[in-house]
Amino acid sequence: MTMRAPLTDLPIMFADTGYVVSTLPVLTQISLTIGAGTPTILIGPNGSGKTTLLRLAMGLASPSSGRVTWNGRTEVPPTRRAIMFQRPAMLRRSAAGNVRYALAAAGVPRADRDECTADLLARVGLDALRDRPARRLSGGEQQRLALARALARNPEVLFLDEPTASLDPAATKAIEDVIRTVAASGIKVVMATHDLGEARRLAGEIVLLHRGRVVETGPAASFFAAPHTEEARKFIAGELLV
Ligand SMILES: Nc1ncnc2c1ncn2[C@@H]1O[C@H](COP(=O)(O)OP(=O)(O)O)[C@@H](O)[C@H]1O
Ligand SMILES: [Mg+2]
Repeated sequence: MTMRAPLTDLPIMFADTGYVVSTLPVLTQISLTIGAGTPTILIGPNGSGKTTLLRLAMGLASPSSGRVTWNGRTEVPPTRRAIMFQRPAMLRRSAAGNVRYALAAAGVPRADRDECTADLLARVGLDALRDRPARRLSGGEQQRLALARALARNPEVLFLDEPTASLDPAATKAIEDVIRTVAASGIKVVMATHDLGEARRLAGEIVLLHRGRVVETGPAASFFAAPHTEEARKFIAGELLV
């Protein structure tokens, strides 16, 4: 008899989690539950710990103190999770070649890869550019290709680290449209951004980080309409959080 695969990695729970580099605290006393449902958007100024929190939630880094658990388990291989980093590196291949490589890495049988590649490129709106060298694509197209590669793992949870940073409005909209479709398809999206407008457009749940601490969490509607903390009020008002 074979072991049945675990049904879900959710919720992902941080319990009094700390992360220290050398002696520098990067994350401090994080208590947070990331459950199924609408996108969870991590916001906060540069250096507030967003990327580090995503890496811990993905399982790429281990906490220095406290725990991270996936549906109650502490050791969970990231087969059902995918992450898209802020500056994804494109392989020196076509757009389709990049996706096919990701499918192979995800263990998709060779016979299924062409069809899956076509599906994934269509999902991110790159079907017409399938044969274009990936490194010749525009910044926004490369980000969408990176999304397709992440989706090749057929993840339950998709972590996105500032996927629209440095993109123009049209390219940003194209990425956000894909993210909305992905979320609507039932994939849990967990995304870091320092762009408040983007957070408003996509959340879900908001998690505000400041100096490595979670200072406020809540549904986007109440977070923006009636923030509880001074930090959240300042951040929403566009004041610099230092
Ligand atoms: N491996 C590391 N070595 C040194 N400093 C780090 C490391 N990882 C994170 N930091 C520091 O921790 C803080 C938070 O980083 P990060 O998680 O990247 O924040 P954000 O993504 O919100 O900008 C920053 O001050 C960063 O320089
Ligand atoms: Mg970051």
